[in-house]
Amino acid sequence: MQKYDIYSGKPDSNGNQTVIETTMILYKKAAALSAYLAKIRQQGNRIGFVPTMGALHQGHISLVQASKKINDLSVCSIFVNPAQFNDKQDFEKYPSTIEQDIDQLEKAGCDILFMPSVAEMYPQGTIDAEHYPLGYLETVLEGEFRPGHFQGVCLVVHRLLDIVQPHELFLGQKDYQQCMVIKKLIELKKSNCALHICPTLRENDGLAMSSRNVRLSAKDRARAPKIYETLTDIKTNLQTGDLNKLKKRAAQKLTDGGFTVDYIEIANADNLEILESWNGETKLTALAAAFLGDVRLIDNLLLAD
Ligand code: PAF
Repeated sequence: MQKYDIYSGKPDSNGNQTVIETTMILYKKAAALSAYLAKIRQQGNRIGFVPTMGALHQGHISLVQASKKINDLSVCSIFVNPAQFNDKQDFEKYPSTIEQDIDQLEKAGCDILFMPSVAEMYPQGTIDAEHYPLGYLETVLEGEFRPGHFQGVCLVVHRLLDIVQPHELFLGQKDYQQCMVIKKLIELKKSNCALHICPTLRENDGLAMSSRNVRLSAKDRARAPKIYETLTDIKTNLQTGDLNKLKKRAAQKLTDGGFTVDYIEIANADNLEILESWNGETKLTALAAAFLGDVRLIDNLLLAD
């Protein structure tokens, strides 16, 4: 394993920073990780956290990099959370590239990788799991098309936050609604953790980076950038007044491009209220979810802020 220098973050009375030399440490047990991080925290270090389900790409790595910029120690988790998959096949086919993931994290200078088992994460199972009052947020868009998904996301993120207790949490804007849900979870739990929503990273042709992209056939991979093209088209042609024509045209564009569309919507960027018309002032976002074959892609674009 490569060696990395971690600065303790707190200069001593002479203004010198202590250099702790370490390798990336892999934890599988929650209690051991919590105990280690408690010590790190007591020493006055700040902890950044990037939760993932593995099959890492540059988008995830950019989150680790963002964490490293403002924290003394960065933790990444890899856990494919069964509780958030409403579709069994999607869970079974979720890509796994553990060796490459570890390699990428080490190169990015990630300090700790947490890779728990299902039993470690859910020792009591998930049947009697807590219900999170997410309200409207879980009735629209992803919430409507993936029933139970956000409850599963909250369950795992709540548990991860309890284990890691980070000062800062890093999420990608690609999962826009998930970011809003986790923001709400943080509020519900009255956690002091600061949420950082980092920009979506895109391939050269505009396709949002996603772990699921590797599952696209060559033909579908070539079609996939249409989703970003369509969101960009909405942004370019946005006008005050009725939005329905614009949405209808966007859905048609995706259908013509070979997608099976779950939704393509324009919503208030602050609360995801679906809008039929625009007053020219409300901050807007366009969001889409659509299948190419059996691969479901999501993307979003801020339209006006
Ligand atoms: O975005 C993801 O990869 C997952 O939903 C998350 C936040 C790691 C929770 O399992």
